[in-house]
Amino acid sequence: MTPSLDALIRQYDPSLPLEEASTIPAAWYTDVRIAALERRTVFARNWQFAGRLDQLRNQGDYVTCEIAGEPILLVRGDDHVLRGFFNVCRHHAAAVMTEAQGCAKNLRCPYHGWTYTLEGALKGTPSFVNECHFDRATHGLVPVDTAVWENWVFVRLDRGGPSLEAFLGEQVIAEVKALRLDRLHWFARQHYTFECNWKVFVDNYLDGGYHVPHLHKGLNSVLDFKQYTIENGRHHCLQSAPMVKGDIEAFASVRGGARANYYWFHPNFMFNWYEGMMDTNLVLPLGVDRTEVIFDFWFEDVSDAARERNAASIAVGNIVQDEDMAICKSVQRGLSSRAYDTGRLSIRREAGEHLFHRLLHAASHCGLGHHPAAVYAVADRLAQPEGQWKKFDRSGWKSLVFPDWRRN
Ligand code: FES
Ligand SMILES: [Fe+2]
Repeated sequence: MTPSLDALIRQYDPSLPLEEASTIPAAWYTDVRIAALERRTVFARNWQFAGRLDQLRNQGDYVTCEIAGEPILLVRGDDHVLRGFFNVCRHHAAAVMTEAQGCAKNLRCPYHGWTYTLEGALKGTPSFVNECHFDRATHGLVPVDTAVWENWVFVRLDRGGPSLEAFLGEQVIAEVKALRLDRLHWFARQHYTFECNWKVFVDNYLDGGYHVPHLHKGLNSVLDFKQYTIENGRHHCLQSAPMVKGDIEAFASVRGGARANYYWFHPNFMFNWYEGMMDTNLVLPLGVDRTEVIFDFWFEDVSDAARERNAASIAVGNIVQDEDMAICKSVQRGLSSRAYDTGRLSIRREAGEHLFHRLLHAASHCGLGHHPAAVYAVADRLAQPEGQWKKFDRSGWKSLVFPDWRRN
């Protein structure tokens, strides 16, 4: 018999400490009811990447995208303020702006020509003359919460909740600021389709480098795997490793510097930072077993002289993506097998996945009407032996850090 959605959520116990925990149940990766619930909760209630700041520098610059099935529009107004709206015309619901990005004097719907200002107010309504009880002032585009951090613009569909700064926390904002991402320039975007649930991609990202020596020989050649660290914040995880001079030339020539920093932000945005470059990953569910991952590649030097080297760097990234694509497909097939339900987690490596799964559980649990504070309180009380836990952020959450783990 198929379990109820409530029963499916309750199969996961977020109160178990890492050394006792397992993954979320396999059905969470295959059941369309979970996917629908996540759309309403995980994706609608959290800050979502919507565009890059370099696309929206000038008055009239706009970007369109889709978040959790909703058409979204970002636009910089005549007053220079950046705003986000549902890209849905208040007349008969057509998308007002249809290009992925551009620059406009006003926002004109292609269907019947209703026109909105760059600030979202309804201005022009052709053929409307004496319609009763029609107030243009109440027919502007519907806004979404919008926030800017570093080179990125985020929106949140459900209004209210913590600001982006509060969600991220002071510590990670300061850490990322120190990386000087403002020195990087956007260079290229690539889209990849993974044949797996979006959470398989995120799990794979958050396994603390566990799979790197086995699956990514090239990447492994430039990382000091033994010194790999995992640090959880309240809503993010930083995985980091010192770089070494590898013996695989394709990788050694384009991956340098002292450290690699891999940041994940709940639920679906990451950036991978190396000296002089980074790529961001945006993970978008296309269906229960298909996922689009959008990569933006940024480099400090985007001059013509650096073009070939930057292209070589992206090509090396593609090798890693191909390796991940194949394993994610394999995992998705296994998750549907009658032989599998949940799997255990490595204390040394998989604290990030544990955080992700508890946050997912909290969101799903809330989505079914349970109070969020109660769920977070459970996750917050994790009974970890002293010494393995270290205070990490000022929000009072505890985080695992393994700066010099010796047991491996
Ligand atoms: S739907 Fe936009 S003008 Fe009619
Ligand atoms: Fe990987």
